[in-house]
Amino acid sequence: MILITGASGNVGKAMLHEVARKEPRFRGMYRSKEEAAKAPAGCEAVLADFSDKASLRKAMDGVAAVYVVCSPIPQLVELESNVIDACKESGVKHVVLNSALGAGDYGKSFPSWHRKVEEKLKSTGLSYTILQPNGFMQNIVAFYAPSIRKEGAFYQAMGDAKVSHIDIGDVAVVAVKSLYAGEHAGKTYQLLGPEAVSNEELAKRISKVAGRTVRFVDIPESAQRDAMLGLGMPEWQVKALLELQQYYRQGGGAKTDGLLKSLLGHDPATIDQYLQANAKEFRDQAASA
Ligand SMILES: NC(=O)c1ccc[n+]([C@@H]2O[C@H](COP(=O)([O-])OP(=O)(O)OC[C@H]3O[C@@H](n4cnc5c(N)ncnc54)[C@H](OP(=O)(O)O)[C@@H]3O)[C@@H](O)[C@H]2O)c1
Repeated sequence: MILITGASGNVGKAMLHEVARKEPRFRGMYRSKEEAAKAPAGCEAVLADFSDKASLRKAMDGVAAVYVVCSPIPQLVELESNVIDACKESGVKHVVLNSALGAGDYGKSFPSWHRKVEEKLKSTGLSYTILQPNGFMQNIVAFYAPSIRKEGAFYQAMGDAKVSHIDIGDVAVVAVKSLYAGEHAGKTYQLLGPEAVSNEELAKRISKVAGRTVRFVDIPESAQRDAMLGLGMPEWQVKALLELQQYYRQGGGAKTDGLLKSLLGHDPATIDQYLQANAKEFRDQAASA
């Protein structure tokens, strides 16, 4: 039996969709009954919390492989470590960990938290595969589309930094293949999208698919900090996001290579395909009416 944690989240939902193509029955871990009620066909929903070890052991009963993902919160290290301990205690055979690009070479922000979990996992002696994806394409709609719809612009302290965004669906394909261990056991994969683009370039591409002029406005880091705090975001999150952008400005997210394509066995989703599929998200009401 395969267990997908974080089943209500962005990556978790994509994982359920992908596992369903391979397995008639599998298990998804949820925290709330409301989310569990949305489990897709074939998914046996279990209720558990990463902070409740007894619930984790119940969820892992009879499970051979576990996919571990948690929200990017400061408690991630402790919570995912609990999951790894429960895997060990429950006799799980293989663990696939959703980490992040930079866990290997950036000592700040979310990557530094993921690094600690990677080290924990390696120390247990469990069979593992670690996935270090670059920024998700889905962030573009989640974070940029609201101000694009409203003002025709998105704002970030990113300068001309390039990022090779990856589609969550491609992360899920690699993650599901990795759950069966085999050649993926003991591997750490940096998952990079097929093309690195700057926000200036992204604005041009969005303009094309949306049929309206979209601008990227490079703002000072202090202005972005004030804007995020003004929106009510907690201090820790603002700090982590700005430090992640510093990593990008240093060129950390600009790499591309052929690994993703070879792991998928086909071409990865491109940024243009993603933008085309989500074109309506960037149009204002007048334009989309
Ligand atoms: N966004 C990016 O570009 C990017 C790139 C690389 C790596 N990552 C990493 O990918 C992960 C984010 O994935 P995502 O977007 O799928 O996150 P998400 O949508 O926030 O989903 C996180 C999942 O974790 C669950 N969860 C949180 N706390 C839990 C707890 N105490 N017990 C049980 N479940 C718990 C959530 O359940 P509830 O629904 O109940 O809260 C949810 O199902 C992060 O670790 C992030 O650092 C993100």
